[in-house]
Amino acid sequence: MKAVLATHNRHKVEEIMDILAGLDVELLSLDNFPEIGEIEEDGDTLEENARKKARTVHDATHILALADDTGLEVDALGGRPGVYSARYSGENATYSQNNEKLLGELNGVPGERRTAKFRCVISIIGDGIDEIAAGEVRGTIIGETRGANGFGYDPLFVPDGHNETYAEMASELKNSLSHRAKALAQARVILGRLAARGTV
Ligand code: IMP
Repeated sequence: MKAVLATHNRHKVEEIMDILAGLDVELLSLDNFPEIGEIEEDGDTLEENARKKARTVHDATHILALADDTGLEVDALGGRPGVYSARYSGENATYSQNNEKLLGELNGVPGERRTAKFRCVISIIGDGIDEIAAGEVRGTIIGETRGANGFGYDPLFVPDGHNETYAEMASELKNSLSHRAKALAQARVILGRLAARGTV
């Protein structure tokens, strides 16, 4: 079966292809459909944004569409930055500006109250198909950045059960335990079920 991933991000396509290996899925991306421009992420939740992207791409291509949205939810900040993680410190914010803003907002908050979780949601939309896969990883926001791998908030996030930040881990380790890996594992089960049913 064919599926199209609602992203131009080559890195995401490759990571997802890896995790879906062995399934009978030919994965396309928005690079195959240049006529679909940027899709605005203006929802109030990760689920809304993922659904909107997958719906838009499915309506345009009539192929099973997958779209993900991810956020960092910090308990002491009432779940912020959450759906606004990419533009926490403003439109076009860099990763390091966002990290600085996060450290500033958590200034003075003691270690035991610096808990957070990464949450990744994947919407799968096809003809008569509207499914959601999700994965989360709980951890702690440390007091200064550590590590040079990864991206985004990786240098500030230590997943529970580990001593290294996501950015200090080898990418294979991060990608085996991450919020995205968990959501993709669930998406893999859903896709396997759809393929077996012959619905796609
Ligand atoms: P997206 O939905 O994958 O584009 O993620 C939105 C924002 O969340 C990104 O701009 C990053 O700031 C952050 N983010 C998503 N995934 C990760 C991750 O694995 N590590 C660190 N930050 C992430």
